[in-house]
Amino acid sequence: MDFFHTHISPRAIELANQTLSSGWVSEGRLVKEFETALTERLGLIHPVAVNSGTSALHLALAVAGVGAGDEVILPAQAFVATGLVILMQGATPVFADIDPQDGNISPVSIREKITPRTKAIMPVHWAGYPCDMDEINSIAAKHNFVVIEDAAHALGATYRGRPIGSLSRFTVFSFQAIKHVTTGDGGALCCTEVQDAQQAIVRRWFGIDRANSRPSILGEREYDIPVVGYKYHLNDLGAAVGLGNLADFPQRLVRRQQIGARYREQLAKVPGLQLLRLEGNRTHAYWLFTILVERREDFIRKLAVHGIPASVVHLRIDHNSAFGGLCSNLPGQAEFNARQVAVPVHEGLTDEDVERIIYMVTSGW
Ligand SMILES: Cc1ncc(COP(=O)(O)O)c(C=O)c1O
Repeated sequence: MDFFHTHISPRAIELANQTLSSGWVSEGRLVKEFETALTERLGLIHPVAVNSGTSALHLALAVAGVGAGDEVILPAQAFVATGLVILMQGATPVFADIDPQDGNISPVSIREKITPRTKAIMPVHWAGYPCDMDEINSIAAKHNFVVIEDAAHALGATYRGRPIGSLSRFTVFSFQAIKHVTTGDGGALCCTEVQDAQQAIVRRWFGIDRANSRPSILGEREYDIPVVGYKYHLNDLGAAVGLGNLADFPQRLVRRQQIGARYREQLAKVPGLQLLRLEGNRTHAYWLFTILVERREDFIRKLAVHGIPASVVHLRIDHNSAFGGLCSNLPGQAEFNARQVAVPVHEGLTDEDVERIIYMVTSGW
């Protein structure tokens, strides 16, 4: 049994083969088709496809104009990518506390971390469960902050009936190998403002405006680069894989949600185990099934003996020297960090796998 699952659908293989045979593998028609499909099938607003979630996060900060001297508020319950992109822009990461009941950034703590230098908030939807976006966006609106949602775990999640990827000025998804939909590696930056998406398209390709620059007789486009750009575009081979994998994503998401619901029903009263809190106004994308357990190492060892992988996936990131070292004033984060662990929740699991995981957990550790 695997902890993560890389899903490659037969359609993805077919489209990838066609793309390879066509001789055109760089960014082209299929990237556009993939972006259109993300909008039409999942309701994402102006998704700009790029070569990783990390690139999308960095691009969002660049397009938002976050730079040296600015502070960005984020949770430490994240992946290092979320913090590193802030450093890449010369800005300062400021860690807010999380709610230990769900692992997501606390709006109360965000308010406490605001300074005159605050420019942006980067919430992370831990495990695929949406943060309190109404609260976060109302703080942002009041102070004129930019919101960049790190939705690397949350493709297919909804908040008050609306898809994650349609709520805030910027939302980032990851299409890395072990995510819900993979392009091999890849990501998308969704923008509710069309001018941001236009900027992102130009800046994902060195800052060259391909739509408005003409090839000259000399063989190169005539262009001027007004701002720094990057080599962050997705290519057609990745987009072919993504399009194929997107086709069966709705059914695979439902399967994850069914497994999540079964775990919640069966693990609700296990001594030494606490389920995370879910609010009725959000749906969970279940990239992870994170729980809080006592004696975590014993829990992991017991499951491992029975061939079941369990993992924290990511511990808090603030302890890294690059981020200034462990923050001592995040009690919710400390509590969550000491007890969180996840069990497999993906569509590669059989019903027997799910029941075996339940049995091994309910029988104690
Ligand atoms: C919370 C979070 N943000 C960002 C990323 C980065 O995504 P990518 O690997 O596509 O660059 C990850 C990757 O796992 C992640 O877990």
